[in-house]
Amino acid sequence: MDFRSQTAGAGGLAKLSGDTLVVVLPVDADAQSLESPLNELVADALAAGDLQLKPGRTLYIHRPPGLKVRRVVLATAADAGAKALRNALASAIGLLKNGPAKQLGVLLAGDTGLTAEHAEALVAAFSDAAYVYRHTKPSAQPAWEPQRVSLLCAKTEARALDAALARGSAIAEGVRVARECANRPGNHCTPSFLAEQARELGQQHGFKVEVLDRRAVEKLGMGAFLAVAQGSEEPLRFIVMKHEGAGRGEAPVVLVGKGITFDTGGISIKPAAEMDEMKFDMGGAASVLGTFAAIGRLKPKVNVVGVIPACENMPDGRAVKPGDVVTSMSGQTIEILNTDAEGRLILCDALTYVERFKPAVVIDIATLTGACVIALGHHRSGLFTADDELAQALELSGQAALDPCWRMPLDEEYDEALKSNFADMGNVGGRAGGAVTAAMFLRKFTGKYRWAHLDIAGTAWKSGAAKGATGRPVPLLTHFVLGRAR
Ligand code: BES
Ligand code: MN
Ligand code: ZN
Repeated sequence: MDFRSQTAGAGGLAKLSGDTLVVVLPVDADAQSLESPLNELVADALAAGDLQLKPGRTLYIHRPPGLKVRRVVLATAADAGAKALRNALASAIGLLKNGPAKQLGVLLAGDTGLTAEHAEALVAAFSDAAYVYRHTKPSAQPAWEPQRVSLLCAKTEARALDAALARGSAIAEGVRVARECANRPGNHCTPSFLAEQARELGQQHGFKVEVLDRRAVEKLGMGAFLAVAQGSEEPLRFIVMKHEGAGRGEAPVVLVGKGITFDTGGISIKPAAEMDEMKFDMGGAASVLGTFAAIGRLKPKVNVVGVIPACENMPDGRAVKPGDVVTSMSGQTIEILNTDAEGRLILCDALTYVERFKPAVVIDIATLTGACVIALGHHRSGLFTADDELAQALELSGQAALDPCWRMPLDEEYDEALKSNFADMGNVGGRAGGAVTAAMFLRKFTGKYRWAHLDIAGTAWKSGAAKGATGRPVPLLTHFVLGRAR
């Protein structure tokens, strides 16, 4: 799919090239501000009651009089913002996707200007619709993908919009990579598969990639990570990838992604219902790979390190048991009271490992707690950090990328829940504030750098009829990384 900006040439919209014009109408926009004959078309559709100015409405017009294009789709939007544009385009695409439209123009009615966010939202809407999972279901219908989508704009806007469309395409590719990884079932997406994906991205984009096996992880003393992995026949992997976009001496942004390729819960085994969804428990890892796919294309002048501890969480004769005490790489001991709280155990050793990079900032991304889903649902990822400036930067990145997060507390009072009589800490608090106590646990391993944690348990995938990975929070992370480039 090719995205570009386009300024209507001589003859205006009537002579517009391509086969389809999508007109997005914010409900408060003045239809008369559209040029002829679109203004008449819209006025007529409104007067006849074929279209109502309420968000989410669409109208397909075949062979519109006075226009060269073969079809026009009108789609109403709640307002003239990027999010409303994305939603309106998703509705319009619903009408187009089983048809022959190949070359589209998109026009946002009204006289509010177009921003980079509009351009990225447009790419996101089309790319989202163009994705179909087929790896283990080759019989699935291929998705509809137009050849070209042109964003109609003023001459003065074209340059900035083209840059934003390119950024949007890179993010969309990152989202696709993340979805494709996370959608693969646990017997396909193993720790070794994640390592291969990292290596492939490395070859494609010139990242340095290093993969550690169990022996190397033992040498490092990652007792917590090893404890989770010991119940599985599938060999663990500890993946490190580097984008060196800035000078050698510049402190990197470090992204740490939870890579549990299947979470049975271990000896504290989960109920059978919906356990299949725990193949998505490597969503954090997928978002790191996806973000690297995006920055591999955009080559921002910033150093970025991606780290993925990857293993399965299985029950077995050798599996870790409730009450077992392990020593983490940091030297702190942990009483594993619940083997299903495994994400924090693999992350804590990764968080100690990354000290060696003297990071500018460390973000970990994890499908960490069901409690976060209860707290925030499926719309916003949970954001945990004691660093106000970092919180703001991540919140703004999420907003701009239409991939929002919401800050949660980290008061020391929550620490009480992690006390243990047999180790420096337990690995679970009670049910109360479960997302916060999980973050408090991680915090104990992050004293040496600026740190934030994203709990994506509610946002990385959807259940129900549209079951599948979302590719979030690749857009947020990519924006954040770009924001730190020189
Ligand atoms: N991977 C799960 C978290 C999860 C649950 C993500 C549901 C998405 C949907 C995690 O490893 C887990 O099992 N967490 C436990 C923690 C508890 C034992 C303290 C949970 O949330 O129940
Ligand atoms: Mn678990
Ligand atoms: Zn898990």
